[in-house]
Amino acid sequence: MQIDEKITLEEVSTENWRDIIALDVKSEQAQYVASSSFYLLLCHYDQIWHPKAIVKNQEVIGVIMWAIDPDDESGWIGGFLIDQKWQKKGYGKLALLEMLSFLKHEQQRKHVALSVQPQNPAIHLYESIGFTKTDEWEGDEIVMRFSMD
Ligand SMILES: CC(C)(COP(=O)(O)OP(=O)(O)OC[C@H]1O[C@@H](n2cnc3c(N)ncnc32)[C@H](O)[C@@H]1OP(=O)(O)O)[C@@H](O)C(=O)NCCC(=O)NCCS
Repeated sequence: MQIDEKITLEEVSTENWRDIIALDVKSEQAQYVASSSFYLLLCHYDQIWHPKAIVKNQEVIGVIMWAIDPDDESGWIGGFLIDQKWQKKGYGKLALLEMLSFLKHEQQRKHVALSVQPQNPAIHLYESIGFTKTDEWEGDEIVMRFSMD
């Protein structure tokens, strides 16, 4: 696994939005996520989620969104994908760790949640970081939660 290259999370801008909407996942993964274009529009018009470009060596390789739950103030992660040509190299894990650090240090969150379809192999990635399944559901997705140290 190549994990020596740095990953940064960058604001979406006039410079990178075209690279974000060009991101694509494998055909068998399309059932688990919406398109990156949908996520950018959701963030823009609903103003609940906030997008970040996942960047490696100045190249956009993925997208990830964050939000704050107004009910319990936990941070949420959603709309997360790594372009198919950059998958399985450790970058998804690095991007998640960067997002957890952002939520902890820049958003002062102690608790983070996400939802995922139970059959999505991404669950293994979330569990390897320390997310645990709960008995909560968001539609057909199970809610997983993580507490910062
Ligand atoms: C989920 C996703 C972002 C992971 O990105 P990635 O860069 O391939 O993940 P990584 O290479 O960092 O993998 C990290 C770990 O998860 C495991 N993993 C990642 N994808 C996996 C898969 N499809 N099946 C099984 N394990 C997987 C890796 O083996 C690795 O484990 P390790 O650290 O023990 O070696 C990517 O597969 C993706 O974009 N999937 C489609 C969209 C999606 O489902 N998003 C999540 C919605 S909740």
